[in-house]
Amino acid sequence: MKVIGIETSCDETSVALLDFDENQQLPKILHQEVSSQIKIHQPYGGVVPELATRQHLIHLRPMIHKVLERAQTKWHHIDLIGVTRGPGLASSLMIGLSFAKACAIASEIPWLGINHLEGHLVSAFLSHNSVPIYPHLGLIISGGHTQIIHVKALSDYELIGSTRDDAAGEAFDKVAKMLDLPYPGGPVVEELARNGDASSISFPRAMINKPNYSFSFSGLKTAVKLYLDENPHWTHDKQHLSNICASFQQAVIDVLIHKTFKAAQELNLTTVSLSGGVSCNQAIRQTFAEEASRKGIKCVLAAPYLSTDNASMIALVAALQHQQGVLQKWDTDIDPNLKLAS
Ligand code: KG4
Ligand code: ZN
Repeated sequence: MKVIGIETSCDETSVALLDFDENQQLPKILHQEVSSQIKIHQPYGGVVPELATRQHLIHLRPMIHKVLERAQTKWHHIDLIGVTRGPGLASSLMIGLSFAKACAIASEIPWLGINHLEGHLVSAFLSHNSVPIYPHLGLIISGGHTQIIHVKALSDYELIGSTRDDAAGEAFDKVAKMLDLPYPGGPVVEELARNGDASSISFPRAMINKPNYSFSFSGLKTAVKLYLDENPHWTHDKQHLSNICASFQQAVIDVLIHKTFKAAQELNLTTVSLSGGVSCNQAIRQTFAEEASRKGIKCVLAAPYLSTDNASMIALVAALQHQQGVLQKWDTDIDPNLKLAS
């Protein structure tokens, strides 16, 4: 089965062609294109929805052509279209969904509107050319979400914990902004943290000892702000800047790891997956893998090119749902606040 994936939920336009062998349960990415808008949004320090939407409008059609050409496939070989219908920016989602519906009408092939978070969950397994293992515990850490999910089966999810305020990626982005670093902050903070001493500044590990699986990163952000106000000389000292980044990053890692593995143990789950843009972070990946190995848990990490927003993960969810006989209604709308589970 050949599946086209379309992802336009935020500031990345992505199209991918997935070949899914239903008998072997083997997904293979034939080609993936991602058009990043970082340069367009960078001057504003964050995503400007209207600019993001217009970029999707410009890029989708040429990207479909490029994907088909690179994968040496013709449009009439496509069996299914999977498109993100939420959560995300309303106007951006509308471009992808309208485009997918139009393609489906014109070529009379089925289409499915997919939950972006469900895409992130399968991306870890897709990175290893595999379908998800059930049950497992999934940690999604992105710019908009920080969620621990009990993945019982396809489309059967239980939310174990989530952030009460900022998402992990949002915390990286906001702290980077305070440090006069460019958007998106995650990769820059990680790079600086590499040369820093993570134990040099004691930032709070919010809610780490609370008997729940909730996260809170806004207090950590405020603690960094207070530290910068009290220690203004950091602006002249590169080593000091690296120490701040490393100490902040370690505070994020400690709570993520502690809560995730505690949940896995409590739920008796022997597989844990890590996905979402923040899972590109090498320090997080390494700590996650080490902790899993210490606890005898199988750890599945999304490859960096499938950690950030991409269409291959959307295509795989569509393929799996199609296999289970899920059909889409033509009056399906976007849902900017679409939930995975409650
Ligand atoms: O999954 P994603 O591409 O988009 C959303 O669905 O939100 O995640 C983007 C987020 C941004 O906040 C970005 O700063 C963060 O992922 N990020 C990182 C790293 N690379 C991207 N955070 C920490 N370390 C990184 N290396
Ligand atoms: Zn995402």
